[in-house]
Amino acid sequence: MQLNYDLAVAVATELAATENDPLCAYVYDLDGLRTHIQQLVASLPPQCQLFYAAKANAETPVLQVLADHVHGFEVASGGELHWLREHFAEVPLIFGGPGKLESELRAAIDAQVELIHVESRLELERLARLADEAGRPVDILLRINLTLAELPSTTLTMGGRPTPFGLDESELEGILAWLPTQPNLRLQGFHFHLLSHQLDAAAHLRLLQGYCRQVKRWCNDYGLESRHVNVGGGIGINYVEPDNQFNWPVFSQGLATLIEQEQMQDWTIRFEFGRYVTAACGYYVMEVLDLKRNLGQWFAVARGGTHHFRTPAAQSHSHPFHVVSRSQAESRTGGAGNPPAVLEREPVTIVGQLCTPKDVLAQQVPLDRVAVGDWLVFPYAGAYAWNISHHDFLRHPRPRCGYFDGGRVVVAP
Ligand SMILES: Cc1ncc(COP(=O)(O)O)c(C=O)c1O
Repeated sequence: MQLNYDLAVAVATELAATENDPLCAYVYDLDGLRTHIQQLVASLPPQCQLFYAAKANAETPVLQVLADHVHGFEVASGGELHWLREHFAEVPLIFGGPGKLESELRAAIDAQVELIHVESRLELERLARLADEAGRPVDILLRINLTLAELPSTTLTMGGRPTPFGLDESELEGILAWLPTQPNLRLQGFHFHLLSHQLDAAAHLRLLQGYCRQVKRWCNDYGLESRHVNVGGGIGINYVEPDNQFNWPVFSQGLATLIEQEQMQDWTIRFEFGRYVTAACGYYVMEVLDLKRNLGQWFAVARGGTHHFRTPAAQSHSHPFHVVSRSQAESRTGGAGNPPAVLEREPVTIVGQLCTPKDVLAQQVPLDRVAVGDWLVFPYAGAYAWNISHHDFLRHPRPRCGYFDGGRVVVAP
């Protein structure tokens, strides 16, 4: 998805017009998101389905855009399940994630989710009992933690090594022998999500090939009829080199070849992408409050911080940003009694308003010019950003929020 800083600034300008204090805000480009999701879905081979992992960003306006285009939503908690059902009564839901409560499993059965992704043997047995109590068959996928010979490495792996996610493959035989004794559990296939932050299209295709071959082997070895594999999410955003993003055209074309080579034309291959769908539609805007030099390094203290936008701290990266010049201030050199309002050609660390040295959004970034009053616009803030942040720390107010939708700026109250 193309970034559009002009649009982010246009929305921020409207928000600032109704703000007495320096601005901090989230801006979402819903028009861009609409085009992006349409293109993603349209470029997938017909055997593939795209579900959206709501954990990436479950703001209603974002979900509303996606609901018209995706095949369904993946939820990973009772909270997400209720939220999604409340807003989208008809959209297909699948329910995954570790540590599901009995109350959540019951709610999922009542909400008639399409599939429950089972993470452990105990969960499977609980679900069998709850399905019996409900007197209703429940369709399931077994999530398996695979060790593949060629597991690509990324900065976030959920499998291929000891993790709490999915069943150990060694349990499969016992489970497959036990399942036919359970009248209300219907095995529909398998689920994998071994990693996130994948930036290499060819490596991701190799991973999917590994999943597909393994599933076909199980179907063959155990005489299973299922023709459904959920290959998880995991496509990343290159925050460090923003010009070098995952090559979607190579991936989607490669998928078609993979399906043909593996003779999986009669299979359903389902994705549950999060980050790659929504990251690029969101921007976090911070206004520079102060410029200061401390033990030899320059800092720009800006309105807001990692309690709104934890992504850089969570990923331990320097988040890219764009400086929007708004100040007419003259360049001053600084020094005692003469603090600078403008810095030119200096490396600057961008921090927020929190009383912790961890409140850093970008480290020692060489900037041509930055001034008090300028806006710092952080792109790729539409996934795992606001919703993973510790909002209540220090009880700073929430950021403002605005959208660009249908060619118009919409300001959230
Ligand atoms: C089971 C599962 N599916 C899908 C996702 C979405 O992953 P991503 O946002 O990397 O596409 C996650 C993320 O943690 C996950 O755990």
